[in-house]
Amino acid sequence: MRLTDEEQAMLAGEQGAAVRQAMEIVIALGNIYHAPDLVPITHAQVAGVSYKNLGNAGLAFLQEWADNGARVRVPTTLNPAGIDTAQWQALGIPADFALRQAEVIAAYTAMGIRHTLTCTPYQVGYRPALGEHVAWSESSAVSFANSILGARTNREGGPGALAAAIVGRTARYGLHLDEFRRANHCVIVTCELRYEADFGALGYLVGRRLGNAVPLFRFQGDTPDLTPGIDGQGEALLRALGAAMAASGAVALYHVAGITPEASATDVLLPGAPVTTISSLQEAYAALNGPAEFVDFVSIGCPHATLAEIAQVARLVRGETLRARLWVTTSRQTREEAERRGWVRDIESAGGFVVADTCVVVAPVELLGARSMATNSAKAAFYAPSHGGMSVHLGPLAQCIRAAVTGRWEA
Ligand code: F3S
Repeated sequence: MRLTDEEQAMLAGEQGAAVRQAMEIVIALGNIYHAPDLVPITHAQVAGVSYKNLGNAGLAFLQEWADNGARVRVPTTLNPAGIDTAQWQALGIPADFALRQAEVIAAYTAMGIRHTLTCTPYQVGYRPALGEHVAWSESSAVSFANSILGARTNREGGPGALAAAIVGRTARYGLHLDEFRRANHCVIVTCELRYEADFGALGYLVGRRLGNAVPLFRFQGDTPDLTPGIDGQGEALLRALGAAMAASGAVALYHVAGITPEASATDVLLPGAPVTTISSLQEAYAALNGPAEFVDFVSIGCPHATLAEIAQVARLVRGETLRARLWVTTSRQTREEAERRGWVRDIESAGGFVVADTCVVVAPVELLGARSMATNSAKAAFYAPSHGGMSVHLGPLAQCIRAAVTGRWEA
């Protein structure tokens, strides 16, 4: 691998042991994937924040790195943690878990990382431009950055993204290169798609069937307007599609004909690429829906909810009294804006929570006693049985809120 003089100095330890260690990680990854050199990055997004996933070993690793002087040299943001840092007690999170989680966040903060604690950094000011190289490790955000924004990132692991942030570079391979960004599979969708749950169900099917392919979607059935734009409906629907594909498979980039920025290239689809036609979402809904008739937990906001979604929840619960526990998970910044607009009060008055900094998958919800969850997110539905020990129902947001009101899943 070609290294600049500065990179060789980093590798030789001239900028300290922590930088040398980070450079060794970045180069080791590059060697595995035959990267010719390193590429400077403008931003990193680090996953691996919840104490639920890190445990004491992960916490000790981070504290040691921070104590050794590791500091990020590009703007770097953090994925959700296992707690809402402001209202963990009200949510029923045990104090010892919250204490450990605070230590994890402190270790990252000591390295200069901004504790945004969201999987949607693109909704809180970190929105890389077309062609910009970044190192992101949250799979739904990776999908969003590559597909909707046309930025360039591989699906980094948490330590890989952290190492890239410390040296300000990542190995140039995979989705940083033009040739790996072309679609190698065409997916024709002939059924109607209406809700975010439908797009998630489609993503679940495609991810399971195609693994880590780069699909080009051609929508031939009715869909809402998918034109992207901040907080727009189209962006939220495509986000649901990408998050589910990255969960059930490992799709890190997809194109949508006529919509996503790189799909306009006439040669985006590789010659001879196989074609899959999807005419029904039935298989996905059957796989993701459990048998329980009751619902005692409702989760909205995976990926983290937009202001528009919070507004919709507030409208639906206004004047209601919820029977099931409701979490609308979002970033701290978005929650503060929702609070200013009165939507947090609406949701709390009904008995729900607008939860910041965490989500149903990375919080220790298995400790809260919930057994049957409704969600509008195929990604949350995919992970909840294994991560939270819950049976699941997947459906549109309005149906989920109805379940929060009645405590039952009504077809
Ligand atoms: Fe985000 Fe948690 Fe879903 S990190 S994408 S809300 S699983």
